[in-house]
Amino acid sequence: MYIFAIESSCDETSAAVIRANDDNIEVLSNIIASQVDTHALYGGVVPEIASRAHCEVISSVSHEAIDKAGISLSDIDAAAVTFAPGLIGPLLVGVNFVKALAYRSGCKIIPVQHIEGHLSAAYIENSSLKPPFLALAVSGGHTSLYKVENYVDFDEIGSTRDDACGEAFDKVGRVMGLPYPGGAAMDKLASEAYTKFDYTKKDALTFPSPAVHDETYDFSFSGLKTAVINHIHNEKQKAKTKDLPYETKCEIAGAFTNAVCSGITKKVSAALKGTGMKALVMAGGVAANSHLRRAVGDMCDSLGVEFVVPSLSLCGDNAAMIAARAYHMYRNKLFGDIELDACASDDGAEEYLDRIKSLARLG
Ligand code: KG4
Ligand code: ZN
Repeated sequence: MYIFAIESSCDETSAAVIRANDDNIEVLSNIIASQVDTHALYGGVVPEIASRAHCEVISSVSHEAIDKAGISLSDIDAAAVTFAPGLIGPLLVGVNFVKALAYRSGCKIIPVQHIEGHLSAAYIENSSLKPPFLALAVSGGHTSLYKVENYVDFDEIGSTRDDACGEAFDKVGRVMGLPYPGGAAMDKLASEAYTKFDYTKKDALTFPSPAVHDETYDFSFSGLKTAVINHIHNEKQKAKTKDLPYETKCEIAGAFTNAVCSGITKKVSAALKGTGMKALVMAGGVAANSHLRRAVGDMCDSLGVEFVVPSLSLCGDNAAMIAARAYHMYRNKLFGDIELDACASDDGAEEYLDRIKSLARLG
């Protein structure tokens, strides 16, 4: 079967086509039009500019995805769309586009929750991956752990109590004067730091862990973020400059990344032991971080747990992951309809998905 999908929850307009069957999910096209250069001028995503930019390109990006897949509109069995959570304007652009497309072609509409989409990217390159497994979503808006026992439900067992991991990367990057979004630049600075600084030394720079000190599987990134930002301000004052020396930026990025990696591996390993899961999926924009991939991979090796992480092109926002999620929803008859609306919050998304799950159970 063929699934067409749109992702437009933030600052990327993406359209994809997959061909899927019981054994395999094949990505035929996955077109991404990023607005990141536009938003970088403002140091963050400007929602109204994002909505307009989605409107401008959604049609051409969709045509390109369908053409590249070598199919026509009538071949599509279902049209999927990220309906929540995210920026309401950008989400509305995608939802209304997909509703019109489904109405015109007569295919099913599948409403996908963004984070469930990120985690489903893992099924694309790993046809042998099957629930049960533990899943970690690390993105600009989420840092959450899920028990995944079937193809329908993602049971959240831990999450951040304040900032998301990607948000902390971006805020620290911004205060250091790095271009938005700061995550990828911080990754490079940390790589440089590990060749220059020995963080095992007693007097090495350290920051507080984002692992909450209790029995839960929760995180808190705001303390870490504030500690790093205060340190940056102090260093700027000491150096009497608005821009820190390159070496100092590297040292800070390395220490920040150490705190992120050790805090995340601590909670994830506790969750693996607590749930007895034998596989871990990690996905979302921050899953592209080279140091986090290595740290979590090493931790899984030491526990004898299979580690599945999408390749870099499937970590950031893209529509192929939305189509992959939609495939499992299709098989379980989780459909939306022409009344589908976009929803900015996680709670609203959960309520809507619970409703379509009950409808599917009633047959
Ligand atoms: O999943 P995503 O593309 O969008 C959301 O759903 O939020 O994640 C974007 C986040 C941004 O915070 C960005 O800085 C971060 O992912 N990111 C990274 C890296 N690449 C992207 N963070 C750390 N290291 C990276 N290499
Ligand atoms: Zn995302």
